[in-house]
Amino acid sequence: MKGYIPQEIIDEIRDRTDMVDLIAPYVMLKKRGRNYVGLCPFHLEDTPSFTVSPDKQIFYCFGCQKGGNCFDFLMEYEHLPFPEAAEKLARRAGIPLPEKEISPVERQRRDERRRLYDVNKETASFFQRQMAQSRPCLAYLDRRGLSAEVVAAFFLGYAGESWDALRNHLLKAGYSEEDLLKAGVVSAGEGGRIYDRFRQRLMFPIADAKGNIIAFGGRILGEGEPKYLNSAESRLFNKSRNLYGLHLAAPHIREKGEAILMEGYIDVLTAHQFGLKNTVAPLGTAFTEDQAKLLKRYGGRVLLAFDGDGAGRKAALRSIDILSKQGFRIAVLALPEGRDPDDFLRQQGPEAWAALAEKAPSHMEYLIELAFAAHDAGRAEGKADIVKALYGPILAIGDGVERGEYVRTIAQRLDISEELLLADIRRGATEGRDAIGRDFSYQKPPKEKSEDRAVRLLCHLALEDQSFYDRLEAELGWDFLADSPLKPLLELVAQHYDRYSWRPRDLADLLEEEEKGRLFSFLLEEVPEGDRATVFSDCLARVKRKKLAEELAALEAAIRRETSNENHGDFLRLLQEFDKKQKELRKI
Ligand code: UTP
Ligand code: MN
Repeated sequence: MKGYIPQEIIDEIRDRTDMVDLIAPYVMLKKRGRNYVGLCPFHLEDTPSFTVSPDKQIFYCFGCQKGGNCFDFLMEYEHLPFPEAAEKLARRAGIPLPEKEISPVERQRRDERRRLYDVNKETASFFQRQMAQSRPCLAYLDRRGLSAEVVAAFFLGYAGESWDALRNHLLKAGYSEEDLLKAGVVSAGEGGRIYDRFRQRLMFPIADAKGNIIAFGGRILGEGEPKYLNSAESRLFNKSRNLYGLHLAAPHIREKGEAILMEGYIDVLTAHQFGLKNTVAPLGTAFTEDQAKLLKRYGGRVLLAFDGDGAGRKAALRSIDILSKQGFRIAVLALPEGRDPDDFLRQQGPEAWAALAEKAPSHMEYLIELAFAAHDAGRAEGKADIVKALYGPILAIGDGVERGEYVRTIAQRLDISEELLLADIRRGATEGRDAIGRDFSYQKPPKEKSEDRAVRLLCHLALEDQSFYDRLEAELGWDFLADSPLKPLLELVAQHYDRYSWRPRDLADLLEEEEKGRLFSFLLEEVPEGDRATVFSDCLARVKRKKLAEELAALEAAIRRETSNENHGDFLRLLQEFDKKQKELRKI
């Protein structure tokens, strides 16, 4: 899966990338002891549990258990596959990558993509020129109050009345009919003759995040059906994986940490015109999980501003569901009945908008209000319906403290005990009506025993230092790990003993997700100050003592059983063994 990048280069990238430098632009880090901490970018939290260790060059979040090296961070943060994360890091560190070998088929595909982008670009320019000459279109823009700046920034254009003007223009420019069809700017009629797909429409080029034009949406001027016509899905255009306006909004979303999500193209234009430049919209279909993941690359908060009608509210609920599962912090701006963001901004102005945005409730507050408005909290059935409506969203909250707060609020409003509400929620979760995939860990984990810590420290030291590893193997063997979750890590070292660098972060590449988390959580545990050899010996002694104590207990039980037995030979042998172990224990 590492593709064409050789291991030496991967190692070099890792050596030349400083984790603190890498992460600092994404997360506000504060120094704490030897490490840096900040608010985790991968789950919602109010107190920092995201930790970066400059010594070990790893990150780990004690809240969500995500952790890893520089590759893991970038893959997780920007949702990139390994080769792309490696490429980015290589560029950042100024390390040249070997030319990627590409097959003739791949080359052909890449060239075709580039050609289709060009077709779209040429088409957009053509529409733009037509717009300048079309009185009805210019009048329409004027009537809608769209400024010249926003029209230019979004590259709007006009498709005229002709059935073949665009087609002829593109053929003359040297593109083939096949390219035109593949780009989706023409349609094929009976007999295979191709004609312009869009006519007499205001044209909205749809771009990917990099700004390549991948499709078009066309709005009829005035009334008529269909109001909007989009390009068909094509090799370039997947409408559930792109967002309208993202290429322009991306830097603003990054800067604010927040995106505004609206429903319509026109809403996005108006929002940008009024300075809300972090606004995007889906592409004529309901907001999708892929779109949420795409948005997550740029920011962790979303302000939902859907139309103030039934359809808008329904779409908002679906979007809340999708966004909350991706860990967004969501606020819901409820527009007055019958208004969309475009109307509202034009009629009430940006100050009124800002006031609404300011007091926009969180999605939980919004859902709670909806649930209490829809059901009678004074009656038993009403209470049950409210719980049923809310447990899914409650479970989707990633932060335990925040979840606890909502549980408390809802219990109070329902006038039932928190315990009862929790029991209901948990029952709902196990019935699995909604596969949320999070466990509901409301209780604190039990306090751990000091032996467990000793075991972890031994493993920690053994992973970092060959001599500790060897001593551990010689003096204790690996039985003590019998049911420890750390066992796979040490086994991995055994497997790679000859090649292992004794830098634990190098193990990360070999591990499964869950094991990675384990590795990083205990690597970040501070080894007590002082001589590591002493720490090692202390822990070793403690684990040995525990092991001996267990063996002694077992022997004692066996001896008790043997007292009633006729066979004195066994009894004596057990006693001897007991004495021997007791002496060993005293020596430690
Ligand atoms: P709206 O009907 O709210 O359109 O549809 P709008 O963008 O606000 O436009 P105006 O203000 O009425 O002129 C919202 C979005 O749904 C998609 C488009 O993406 C549109 O922007 N849509 C709507 C379609 O794909 N096809 C349609 O026929 C209608
Ligand atoms: Mn609308």
